[in-house]
Amino acid sequence: MKSDVFNKPARLKNPPNLGDYDEVCRSFDWRSVRKELDWFDGTKINAAYNAIDRHTQTWRKNKVALYWEDEAGSTRQYTFEQLSLLSNKMGNILKDFGVSRGERVFIFLPRVPELYISFLGALKIGAIAGTLFSAFQEQALADRLGNSDAEVVITNKELKERIDKVRKKLPALKHIITVDSEDFIKSFEHVSDELHIAHMDPDEYAFMLYTSGTTGKPKGVVHVHRAILQEHMTAKWVLDLRDDDTYWCTADPGWVTGIAYEILGSWSCGVAAVVYAGRFDPKRWYEILAKYKVSVWYTAPTAIRMLMAAGSNLVHEYDLSSLRHMCSVGEPLNPEAITWAIKTFDKPFHDTWWQTETGAICIANYPAMDIKIGSMGKPVPGITAAIVDDQGHKVPDGNEGNIALKPKWPSMMHTIWRRPHKYESYFTGGWYISGDRGMRDKDGYFWFIGRADDVIKTAGERVGPFEVESALVSHPAVVEAGVIGKPDAMRGEIIKAFVVLDKKYLRKRFRESVGFPESDKKALREELSQYVKKHLAGHAYPREVEFIDKLPKTRSGKIMRRILKAKEMGLPIGDTSTLEEY
Ligand code: PRX
Repeated sequence: MKSDVFNKPARLKNPPNLGDYDEVCRSFDWRSVRKELDWFDGTKINAAYNAIDRHTQTWRKNKVALYWEDEAGSTRQYTFEQLSLLSNKMGNILKDFGVSRGERVFIFLPRVPELYISFLGALKIGAIAGTLFSAFQEQALADRLGNSDAEVVITNKELKERIDKVRKKLPALKHIITVDSEDFIKSFEHVSDELHIAHMDPDEYAFMLYTSGTTGKPKGVVHVHRAILQEHMTAKWVLDLRDDDTYWCTADPGWVTGIAYEILGSWSCGVAAVVYAGRFDPKRWYEILAKYKVSVWYTAPTAIRMLMAAGSNLVHEYDLSSLRHMCSVGEPLNPEAITWAIKTFDKPFHDTWWQTETGAICIANYPAMDIKIGSMGKPVPGITAAIVDDQGHKVPDGNEGNIALKPKWPSMMHTIWRRPHKYESYFTGGWYISGDRGMRDKDGYFWFIGRADDVIKTAGERVGPFEVESALVSHPAVVEAGVIGKPDAMRGEIIKAFVVLDKKYLRKRFRESVGFPESDKKALREELSQYVKKHLAGHAYPREVEFIDKLPKTRSGKIMRRILKAKEMGLPIGDTSTLEEY
């Protein structure tokens, strides 16, 4: 593939942590980096201890670990020692509630400090922590808490109302901890800040995250304590974190990026992290970058495109000279975004590729390597990546195929919660098949082509069409729905729903036989869109709804989303031999 190249600076002022990519790759062995972490008796480990507590034994004890700011401008800050003691307290609270090793503690909070403290506290007692994005509504919560059989949910007064509404569907849920209730505040004040940290087998479960595929409800991807090894090394090599950095990862811990690079890998590098708890706003984002003198910034293409759209005049109002290194994840990073960054910040964004299932960055661009603009870079040292066909055979360089990784890497998921067959289905011919299509060029750079399945990526967030379709058909006006990702210049994709309406319902409600007036149609489209927003999730609703008489289906009744997509984009619809008459 032809592309522009951003040549690495001839001499970087501060030599990067990963100085010579090829050299490190040649001799690399994961065992050689075990010493980067603290182990108990050489064999046991705790990821949260490595992220926070071990630093309290060093000069970092009083170093600020977290600079927190919300939308209104309130601020709080915590040292490593404070986070250590507060998460000890949370661990003790959970123990008092009877939580033991292996039990599921789900956290349903916006990005308040209590979220981070709860996550760490759960890991420190050996519980399995789960995070729930605060935009989730009843259906999304019921699916995730139900499948995981979560024993405890940690939330706040406002979000608790949503849990209350589905509680009767959750027989395993024993306790709801409300962090802004008087009861909790009082007991938190009195509980001990001394905690015995669970010494975990490296393969014991640490956290789980629900993510979407094409079919079925979201699946619980389970990660183990050992994953910290790769989260730490990639934070060091790819994000290039150093002790004098102020680091801002803009992701929410409801997603894997916020866990691996806002809590575990980044803090295990001892870095001071900024958390901004507000919504996206270009002005506020530049203010945060300038105010905290952010030096390393990890964000996502949609945000970058929105900053581009906000114009250069705005960015030039701020002194952003502290920025040293910038990375991006979650969706294709278009060349224009990199070119804009070079013009605006005098440095490029470094694309990184990985997934909820891979647990940490697996393919990346590094500060000491030339960037082929538009490429995702090269495999992390210790990771073997390849492009393979559907049988798991490598395809020649320059050809399209499945992006695949050689198991096992340290942060690879360990299972899909209670769905072992689903887990097995990821592996073919000795390779983990990612579900992404891509290409490797003759120089070993990997290029992203697209998803092999119907998974939607909207503003970097992964949404399964089935979840949205299920939410739509629970509305009385809807008989059937087919949902696709429609390419969008800003958000990568937006969710578009094709809906077959119930004629009887329409007659009753609109007193129309066939074809009701455009004004009613418009209102119903908006109603359906809002309905999904309210019942499923604030981010996973269709921005476009189109009424259609019939959905394209296979003879066995499966909705052919690829045909909906091809039609939407005016592309040839391809092989229709398995299609029911349409
Ligand atoms: O399709 C790929 C896309 O995001 C998917 C993984 O999504 P999720 O599990 O939510 O994790 C996102 C954050 C790690 C991938 O299968 N993706 C991720 N990074 C890139 C990307 N697509 C293109 N370029 C990337 N750098």
